[in-house]
Amino acid sequence: MTTDAQFIRGLPKAELHLHIEGSLEPELMFELARRNRITLPFASVEAVRAAYAFSNLQDFLDIYYQGAGVLMTEQDFHDLAVAYFRRVAADGCRHVELFFDPQTHTDRGLPFSVAIDGLLSGMAEAKDSLGVTSKLILCFLRHLDEDAAFATLKAADPYLSQLAAVGLDSSELGHPPSKFARVYQAARARGLKLVAHAGEEGPPEYVWEALDVLGVDRIDHGNRALEDPDLVTRLAGSAMTLTVCPLSNLKLCVVNDLKAHPLKRMLDLGLKATINSDDPAYFGGYLAENWIQTAAALNLGREDLVTLARNSFTGSFLTPAEIAPHLAAIDAYAVAN
Ligand code: ADE
Ligand code: ZN
Repeated sequence: MTTDAQFIRGLPKAELHLHIEGSLEPELMFELARRNRITLPFASVEAVRAAYAFSNLQDFLDIYYQGAGVLMTEQDFHDLAVAYFRRVAADGCRHVELFFDPQTHTDRGLPFSVAIDGLLSGMAEAKDSLGVTSKLILCFLRHLDEDAAFATLKAADPYLSQLAAVGLDSSELGHPPSKFARVYQAARARGLKLVAHAGEEGPPEYVWEALDVLGVDRIDHGNRALEDPDLVTRLAGSAMTLTVCPLSNLKLCVVNDLKAHPLKRMLDLGLKATINSDDPAYFGGYLAENWIQTAAALNLGREDLVTLARNSFTGSFLTPAEIAPHLAAIDAYAVAN
């Protein structure tokens, strides 16, 4: 019998909650700063890492937006994506649905095309060289207004066929999903899938709004849904996928201890939970590390791990025909290991 860590690394899995800007490692940050002649407010890679101590989501976002300022060219975004895909391929990840935040870059003066063209070329390279497939999700920054989100959706029009979905991220408290009801309606009319961060720091009401006002296909995080039994019934009954991010929750003080993380409770309540890394360069672990640490803290059994792996594909935006071979690979792997 393989150890749990070995079993997890080899288990075919997908990642459904990954902000590509959150995979910017301090080493690459320094390299891009040098390449683009940008002065960082840090003396060294170690000083950057030392600054990664957060007491809430906003603490993190402030430093995360600052870090993204070194991304200037298509090549930068391409290199960022390829570096992430190399790491996650080694974690047994076969498919990724990644977020990017165009407004973080257009607000710095970059044309809309720079980030998306660089990311799409990195995604193509990952498929060719690593066999990892991916889909791109455009996130609106919820601390900005509805007009800014509409302008971003309009800028994305030439790229519609290369986008899978829109999402909603950034500062949750004070920015309920309903603020973006009309933008989501317009995105749906364009044939895009819909996801939204909800219930990370925000109350259960924000999860209800994401479901009933935005009509999302997936909830990102969803931790605080557990405070409302009717919401749990709704989520379980509709097999709504939750993209849960355990190490992120620990680093942003959404939970105090991984042993207190709600993931096992979610599975036991019949919720369709998945494990994801969110912003791995900032939170201390890529996909497999999230799985390994969570499995150890919550005593997850092999049955739970197989369920989580299956959820990561059935909760994806792949077609049933694309999902089927991944599920067969999981089953074959579980029998052989
Ligand atoms: N942007 C990047 N990571 C995020 C998170 N965990 N919550 C909200 N916005 C984010
Ligand atoms: Zn996130």
